[in-house]
Amino acid sequence: MKNILVKGPQKLQGSVKVSGAKNAALPIIAASLLTEKVVKLNNVPNLSDTQAMLDILESLGAKIKRYENTLEIKCDYISESKVGYELAERLRASVLYCGSLLGRFNKSSVSLPGGCAIGSRPIDQHINGFKALGAVVKISEGNINLDGELVGTDYHFSVKTVTGSANVIFAAVLASGRTTLTNVALEPEITDLCNFLIAIGAKIEGVGTGRLIIDGVKSLRGGEYSIMQDRIEAGTFLVGALITDGKVSISDFDFESNEPLLNKLRECGSVLAKEGNSITVSRGDYMVPVDIVTGEHPGFPTDLQAQFMVLNIILAGHSTIEEKIFENRFMHAAELSRMGAKIKVVGNIAHIDGGEHLLGTTVSSSDLRASIALILAGLAAKGETRVTNLHHLYRGYEKPVEKFAKLGVILEQEDI
Ligand code: EPZ
Repeated sequence: MKNILVKGPQKLQGSVKVSGAKNAALPIIAASLLTEKVVKLNNVPNLSDTQAMLDILESLGAKIKRYENTLEIKCDYISESKVGYELAERLRASVLYCGSLLGRFNKSSVSLPGGCAIGSRPIDQHINGFKALGAVVKISEGNINLDGELVGTDYHFSVKTVTGSANVIFAAVLASGRTTLTNVALEPEITDLCNFLIAIGAKIEGVGTGRLIIDGVKSLRGGEYSIMQDRIEAGTFLVGALITDGKVSISDFDFESNEPLLNKLRECGSVLAKEGNSITVSRGDYMVPVDIVTGEHPGFPTDLQAQFMVLNIILAGHSTIEEKIFENRFMHAAELSRMGAKIKVVGNIAHIDGGEHLLGTTVSSSDLRASIALILAGLAAKGETRVTNLHHLYRGYEKPVEKFAKLGVILEQEDI
């Protein structure tokens, strides 16, 4: 892995093609296990996280062909229903194989996903959903062991959870009878997943709402599907345009699913230009920092919190960012303070006195979104910023250095 050296200040200017959504691709890859027919997926981002999910699928016996961002997956002969620690611990989304193995084979054994830097990441909602559908759940030696013929039921999520919703949907699509899920996550990636499942024959009503009615089918067919655009990557570059006082255009932009971000971009005074399905963002004459409270969709996405913190640091004025999804997602604040930012974290609220000129220094990434936020801070700073621990970055951003170059920014890479 290399460090990235950012010589600032540099402006992001131009247009960039955003990749497919990581958080839609990961559950859809796991869902391909639900059918024995060939599934063709387009616009799959080439990331270390998607590769990790494919490695697990291959270890179970799936046949996978990949060319650029297209995958052909065939799970006609699955020899294994167990996912071991070595493969599962590489990413938390491995937990999604609980639901897809259980849904297809009525049993699964998956190594428990660990917590991570940003939080403990419990899975009680996943497990309660499997139990409600009739699975016997045994946790032993660090594995979640599920077993049982699944029967449709009513299940209410007491907490909105993205991967929890995906996991229980997987278990329900082949169960016998009707399942009604309530308080399902409203993230656009769950809508994308449901649209994929319907494309291969699942019977799901209420897509895009918090209430899904799923009628179990005997089996699913094959099909072809294109993954939605990554709204977090798109938002990252749009906020980057404001941080660096540049101008960025993104095509194929889904305005509806990005409403939470667009509201904040308007509120801080940026100029938004819409042309067909393209958006162009640049600073307005009078920019102000805005208060952010993260929340489940349609709340402000926690995955854009770090990027927006950098913007609030650049703009003169006081603002607060309240992180309501994860218990420890402000680690980038300490790194940004080392660049000269004035941030005080009290509990789950960061208080920011913006308008400071940042100075380049060496900073360390703590998680995927922090890594890109530190790069953006380096672009706004004077001098050289060395960003380390970049394995986080490549988990969720495809060809980041090339994309920044497309936007007129040179990021040097340093061997370590
Ligand atoms: C998904 O994580 C995303 N990951 C995260 O993206 C994203 O930040 C998060 O949703 C919120 O939008 C993927 O989709 C692979 P949750 P997930 O379950 O599903 C609590 C990124 O940077 N909870 O929606 O793990 C939990 O503690 C990553 O791309 C329970 O209490 O998040 C948290 O407070 C980071 N019990 C809240 O719900 C459960 O059983 C939301 O977590 C499950 C979750």
